[in-house]
Amino acid sequence: MATFASSSSLKQKFIIVSFLFAILTSLHSPLNACFASVFSFGDSIADTGNLLAISRSESRQLPTSAFPPNGRTFFHRLTGWFCDGRLIIDFLAEALGFPFLPPYFGSKNERPEQFGKGVNFAVAGATALNSSFLAKKGIPNHSTNISLEVQVNFFKDLLPSLCLSSTDCKELLRTSLIAMGEIGGNDYNYGFWAGKNIKEIRELVPLVVDIITSSINNIKISNMQELIELGAVTFLVPGNFPIGCSPSFLTQFQGSDKDEYDPFGCLTWLNQFSEHHNELLQKELGKLRIRHPGIKIVYADYYNPTMRLYRSPNRSGFKETLKVCCGSGGPYNYNTSISCGSPSLKRSCNDPSSYISWDGIHYTEATYKLVATAVFEELMNL
Ligand SMILES: *[C@@H]1O[C@H](CO)[C@@H](O)[C@H](O)[C@H]1NC(C)=O
Ligand SMILES: *[C@@H]1O[C@H](CO)[C@@H](O)[C@H](O)[C@H]1NC(C)=O
Ligand SMILES: *[C@@H]1O[C@H](CO)[C@@H](O)[C@H](O)[C@H]1NC(C)=O
Ligand SMILES: *[C@@H]1O[C@H](CO)[C@@H](O)[C@H](O)[C@H]1NC(C)=O
Ligand SMILES: *[C@@H]1O[C@H](CO)[C@@H](O)[C@H](O)[C@H]1NC(C)=O
Repeated sequence: MATFASSSSLKQKFIIVSFLFAILTSLHSPLNACFASVFSFGDSIADTGNLLAISRSESRQLPTSAFPPNGRTFFHRLTGWFCDGRLIIDFLAEALGFPFLPPYFGSKNERPEQFGKGVNFAVAGATALNSSFLAKKGIPNHSTNISLEVQVNFFKDLLPSLCLSSTDCKELLRTSLIAMGEIGGNDYNYGFWAGKNIKEIRELVPLVVDIITSSINNIKISNMQELIELGAVTFLVPGNFPIGCSPSFLTQFQGSDKDEYDPFGCLTWLNQFSEHHNELLQKELGKLRIRHPGIKIVYADYYNPTMRLYRSPNRSGFKETLKVCCGSGGPYNYNTSISCGSPSLKRSCNDPSSYISWDGIHYTEATYKLVATAVFEELMNL
């Protein structure tokens, strides 16, 4: 009993000291002291090298993100980032005073100790729903079958090597930030690319939201519920971008009726689709907050900060809103059969920071930076 008492008073002292330390460090980097680690799940919007590592380990053809001009603005080397520079998750890591999150694949067998400040499980091409389910819906798989659930399972397998006991693991999760996405965008992209109509794709929305949050169907355990049960408390859950402004979709649905475009040249019905997904996601996150009162969930709005750039590009120094920086011709400088970084596309625009779109699907570092700034403000208000 005595040992317990003294260890608990020691613990109290430790907490007080940690608290003072937190206040002191908060003067420098406000949230660094709040989170022990960051664990990230998602797709190419957050992939910091996983697809590249998987392709290497399976001796598959390397993704185009492995090659320049990807990475030209910041990393100046082969990266695996589908961007000219840093992604939203990189800017968040910087803002939190963390190193860039290491990709899970490629490092997992070598140095799990480098995961001390977090791990990134996001894989370019990943979907929220699993490949076999999408295949049944007539939506074939693409670059990966590492869906959200598969990523969360990898995390569960890794977890014991990051902590000493189940109490310790719970504590690690309690003090960590879980970045849950962006995920789900590809489920829809693949559907649209497979020629499904909007009605068929809208039917996927509750399923996608359900697999992330699962408060629609109480019986099924969703990925967020799973993490909550492990002890996770703080979530950042991004919504979808305004895909009606995406050069890939503008090219695919090129020549639509004039009245289908908004004043900024974006397709209204596709943006409405993104808004629909975002609304349902927020609604379900609201239910999750009610069911788990101790849980903190920040909805990361990717839609409105991006939309602001299309509305007033000048304000943030953008000159090209709908044309791709790393592209190869056509009205939006986008050709679906020639990807940025492929052997026939090694060039990009002179100044990526004046373009919103990097490669037609992904955004430039300049865009991600502005979105990350908006998201970070939401996180600070937690
Ligand atoms: C795929 O997802 C469906 C629907 O969520 C689920 O019923 C099925 O068990 C999953 N399959 C695999 C292999 O995970
Ligand atoms: C994904 O596909 C690979 C083969 O490409 C297979 O080995 C692996 O088991 C699959 N994983 C899942 C979770 O379906
Ligand atoms: C795609 O699906 C096919 C069959 O449905 C499977 O053989 C293949 O491994 C899958 N590829 C990926 C990357 O998931
Ligand atoms: C934005 O700037 C360009 C010149 O860089 C100018 O031609 C255009 O009128 C400006 N648009 C607005 C809405 O201010
Ligand atoms: C896209 O590139 C392919 C291959 O070079 C070419 O055949 C096709 O005409 C291009 N499409 C457009 C819309 O420019």
